[in-house]
Amino acid sequence: MKVTFPDGKVIDIAEGESLYEAFKRNNIYLTASCGGKGTCGKCRVKVLDGEIRVENYGKLSQTERDEGIVLACQSYAEGDLSVEIPMEALLTVGDKIAVSRSRDLFELLKSYKAEISPLISRVRVQLPPPTLDDNISDLERLKRALDEIGLTLSYPKEFVSTMADKLRRYNWDFTLCYQKDSMEAISIEPPEAEDSRYGIAVDIGTTTVVVYLVDLSDGRVVDVGSTYNSQMRYGDDVITRIVHATEGKGLPDLRKAVVTDINDLIVPMTEKHSIRPSEIESIVVSGNTTMTHLFWGLNPAYIREEPYIPTANLFPVWKAYDSGIKIRRDAPVYSVPCVASYVGGDIVSGVIATKMHTKEEIALFMDIGTNGEIVIGNRDWLMTAACSAGPCFEGGGIKNGMRATNGAIESVKIDRETLEPEIKVIGEGQPVGICGSGMIDAITEMFLSGIIDQKGRIVADLNTDRIREGEDGLEYVVYRDSGRDIVLTQVDIENLIRAKAAIYAGVSLLLKEVGFSLDMIERVYIAGGFGNYIDVEKAVIMGMLPDIPRERFQFMGNTSIAGAYLCLLSEQMRQEAEQVASMMTYMELSVKGSYMDEFMSAMFLPHTDMEQFPMVKEILGK
Ligand code: FES
Repeated sequence: MKVTFPDGKVIDIAEGESLYEAFKRNNIYLTASCGGKGTCGKCRVKVLDGEIRVENYGKLSQTERDEGIVLACQSYAEGDLSVEIPMEALLTVGDKIAVSRSRDLFELLKSYKAEISPLISRVRVQLPPPTLDDNISDLERLKRALDEIGLTLSYPKEFVSTMADKLRRYNWDFTLCYQKDSMEAISIEPPEAEDSRYGIAVDIGTTTVVVYLVDLSDGRVVDVGSTYNSQMRYGDDVITRIVHATEGKGLPDLRKAVVTDINDLIVPMTEKHSIRPSEIESIVVSGNTTMTHLFWGLNPAYIREEPYIPTANLFPVWKAYDSGIKIRRDAPVYSVPCVASYVGGDIVSGVIATKMHTKEEIALFMDIGTNGEIVIGNRDWLMTAACSAGPCFEGGGIKNGMRATNGAIESVKIDRETLEPEIKVIGEGQPVGICGSGMIDAITEMFLSGIIDQKGRIVADLNTDRIREGEDGLEYVVYRDSGRDIVLTQVDIENLIRAKAAIYAGVSLLLKEVGFSLDMIERVYIAGGFGNYIDVEKAVIMGMLPDIPRERFQFMGNTSIAGAYLCLLSEQMRQEAEQVASMMTYMELSVKGSYMDEFMSAMFLPHTDMEQFPMVKEILGK
């Protein structure tokens, strides 16, 4: 059977294969927050013609059904079909995302007084050529010379099997490359080893993958690239991916998806700068614990099951050929160490990028992305926890939610008199959905204009046609469109309040556990792609961020890539990362009895205890 698209493209579809599966097989990826389980409603497509069997309509409204809208993951062709995919359902993985080099990372490295010392070290060696009198083997000859300079290495078979020819080719005068952490010989190179050597720093985020190409001789960032993590075709959040990893070929599929993303960024970058893959001699990856497991193809199943144990937190330095990354075959690959199942290398990177572990001031680090992680502490101690905020702020579980890409409403202002919204859209075109910062704005503005009460309930009897009864109960129309309005429903608002409450409850409980109060926090670092756009004032009024003087907040951008960069360039920073990881005490909040109390108190706008929000109290005149 065939599926034809409005642009004339035709794909085949097998009997018993869902539209979602058939599209995926043909490299057409739909937003699939729930991984194809029929619960998120994101994979909606419009059947223009043909017979289709629909197993489950999920939450599709009657109007949508009448228009031919179905969930692709729940629909099966019964003959040839003609199908249209709405723009908001199409997942444009592989698209390059603009990334900025926000901070001078080399300055950060210098502030640590760290020397450039990549994973591969080099030493020039000159050996006396063998004679009949000095006839020890090549390997013993090399060991004897290295002994004299106090260097003791191990010699893998790969190295030894090529050394005889190379020693003679370079006339016993050569450069020896070895891996510093494992003290393992890597290769024999010409005496004047080429100066050009490069490394790759990677941030494997649940939503995006960012790659920096770095000149290892001077720390210069040669180029940057970013793309969506194409694992998203198997689900938005780490839990859905873990579930997928345990089904059939799920784990190799997930691994292949992210490795392909990284290679697809590296290859054009190296070509652009005329760099041979063999000149890229090391790589550092920084990601949450699940992402790091999936990158290495390690079973993440036990991360999800009590008592939540990962296979590894501190990963051995494996080789590029073990990872599938297309650079120098034997290049070492360092993984920034993780702390626990839900606090990974990305958070360790965050700590070393903020330097909060070197200062006396008490700081709070928040990484708000697909997952929410928090760290509190200073140079003497660090406590960390993960908040199960869910993927709301990335668009998951929100009727018209989407990620912060073109077409997303990123900010909302509501006129206090007319209750009419004024919106700003990323890319300035027609809006197709609303992203995290837009949601925070919208909720806060709705609250300040009296459209919702402190519990987040929409007030029905206001004099505006923006509030109406929808399929899921009351909703506020953020944008009117003859085809498809963009709304925030009562259910969306409840989900968002639950997400912000989880974040705030995490901060609040972690503080209580260490015997601190909010006013003792001298600095709040906010990281994550999402953290770039957030309006602090509105996030405080909503009760997601603590109500402390605004000048204490500092946006850090992507600290995961910053940590990967630091570890790529310096042995001292790799040690620093390992020390930070071992210094961090992880607290599993969900098992704390008082977590529920904290969470329930935070289920208000901004909070049931207004004393915790003194400045908001003033704004509200309460
Ligand atoms: Fe189809 Fe979620 S409903 S992917």
